[in-house]
Amino acid sequence: TNTQHQYRSESALGQNPLSCRTLSTRRELYERDFPVYKQPVEVGCFSLDSERRFFNDSRQMRYYVEPDRNPNFNLRDGYRDRFIKRDDSVKERLDHILRWIVANKSKINPTGAAASPRALDVDFVTWRGHLTKLLTTPYETREGWLLAVTRFRGTFYISEVETEAARRERENRTERHEEMMYWGYKFEQYTCADNTHSLPDPGGVVNTNEAFCTVVQTRLADHRLLFSGEVDCRDKDPKAPAAPACYVELKTSAEICTPKQRSNFHRFKLLKWWAQSFLPGVPRVVAGFRDQEGVVVSVETFHISKISHLIKNEYNCWKPTVCMNFCCDFLSFVKRVVTEDSPRVVYLFSWDPYKDVTYSAHRDSQYCFLPHWYVEEMTR
Ligand code: A3P
Ligand code: MG
Ligand code: MG
Repeated sequence: TNTQHQYRSESALGQNPLSCRTLSTRRELYERDFPVYKQPVEVGCFSLDSERRFFNDSRQMRYYVEPDRNPNFNLRDGYRDRFIKRDDSVKERLDHILRWIVANKSKINPTGAAASPRALDVDFVTWRGHLTKLLTTPYETREGWLLAVTRFRGTFYISEVETEAARRERENRTERHEEMMYWGYKFEQYTCADNTHSLPDPGGVVNTNEAFCTVVQTRLADHRLLFSGEVDCRDKDPKAPAAPACYVELKTSAEICTPKQRSNFHRFKLLKWWAQSFLPGVPRVVAGFRDQEGVVVSVETFHISKISHLIKNEYNCWKPTVCMNFCCDFLSFVKRVVTEDSPRVVYLFSWDPYKDVTYSAHRDSQYCFLPHWYVEEMTR
């Protein structure tokens, strides 16, 4: 079995196993035992306010208020007159996470390792969303990605770079698409309260600058990870389990009326939902199913631990183990490739559907993303 394992990981390394310059994303190569993925531990959190300002606290936490099973929420309400949209042309890269790290260095170096007192005790720092993209890569047929990696004091920082195709799409969204992106946030407003003893306020303004983010630590095989992800809300029962187990992810999706729609929901939507919430250990997703007019007609809870059973009857469906093994092998690939330790160097990993992952190295380029204030703070 050890031989098999080595054979598999060799064959994942492109056509020529000696060159190791590319990484295959073919599903068959990742169908092996589920890798060790430790229960994620929340090590902190931060908030971004209505003007996208960082706070090292949980002021933007919201509380889940269970709606009626058949609620009639109109998701179009307020799109024209009560909507403040975050400027998504502004690239924040890892800045908020880095600010959190600077403010909480002692929390991630509990032992204060004597050999290198100021090095971070993790292998990778990134956003949860970037890891979600890695998990779904073996099944993705539409959108490629670019991930910039810098090695600094032994830690690999991974920050996404917008692809040309994604930029064109962002700049050419239809009015209908723009409005539909609002619907998900409007659903959050219908189901979230600002504190444990208040109710949702559907008459308020939806401001997508606001966010509450959890910071978690975990390990995938031999990769120690520190990442942050936005959390929609938490269980408002004070007796609920500690974070991240009390968190609830909110989603909207088109109403399911035909067997074909159900199959597509299982094959595509549940993959994205599972990957996003499994990573930080968020145990459940509350889904609002909407009709063509943007009215939520039913609400259903999905437990992340049960999603793999739900999809078992789909022919040729996605597998959690393929997602996790690909992510694990990609992180090993990064460790092998990214040898120069410098905030001035970026290795750009590039992937397009049906292709292998490739990379290129760039010194003092437009891709540099570790800010001077961070480098100085961590070198001092
Ligand atoms: P839905 O996913 O319910 O449509 P999240 O679910 O991750 O908390 O994100 C909240 C909402 O942001 C989404 O709600 C959707 O409206 C919008 N959104 C998130 N990611 C998006 C993406 N890649 N493209 C378009 N809209 C997105
Ligand atoms: Mg969210
Ligand atoms: Mg959500």
